[in-house]
Amino acid sequence: MKKMLAIALLLAFTAGTAIASDTVVMKAKNGDVTFDHKAHSGIMDCKVCHGDAKPGKVELDKDAAHALCKDCHVKKSAGPTKCGECHKK
Ligand code: HEC
Ligand code: HEC
Ligand code: HEC
Repeated sequence: MKKMLAIALLLAFTAGTAIASDTVVMKAKNGDVTFDHKAHSGIMDCKVCHGDAKPGKVELDKDAAHALCKDCHVKKSAGPTKCGECHKK
């Protein structure tokens, strides 16, 4: 029992420190995109976006971002798919 609590605390601690910020604002000239990192991390594995490597900075250009973000929203019928729903001026 004690051991399980220790593991739970350890997991909570590492998860808390691994994520630098809850929301990330991604700059785009047609309107910045506010990405809720915490909410996404809660509903999917880190690997979905960060791959097998240790999660950290991700380089996303327009095409990579649209392929990652938009395609999943379309597939799941959840999350924004229209330009203005992500790009806010
Ligand atoms: C699911 C969210 C999402 C949707 C929907 C979306 N975008 Fe994006 N878009 C992004 C993200 C994230 C980036 C990358 C921002 C970065 O690299 O900092 C981006 C980048 C871009 C860029 C490059 C901006 C720059 O400054 O280089 C353009 C142009 C763009 N999108 C146009 C569109 C258009 C047009 C639509 C609708 C057809 C659209 N986007 C729909 C999330 C989205
Ligand atoms: C839906 C996609 C997605 C998921 C899921 C996700 N991340 Fe991220 N993560 C991103 C994006 C996008 C960035 C910001 C990229 C940038 O601006 O460099 C980021 C940034 C980070 C950073 C760097 C933060 C900084 O300020 O430098 C860390 C660390 C990180 N993520 C860890 C995690 C961990 C740990 C998980 C799983 C619990 C996770 N991420 C899940 C997309 C995701
Ligand atoms: C593997 C699937 C997946 C990926 C990848 C993904 N999303 Fe999402 N996203 C979702 C789902 C599912 C929701 C809806 C969550 C809900 O309604 O509770 C969502 C919701 C959102 C919302 C709306 C949140 C709100 O506060 O209403 C935004 C904005 C968003 N995503 C942006 C992004 C951006 C930007 C990326 C890429 C960096 C991304 N998403 C990558 C699945 C994904």
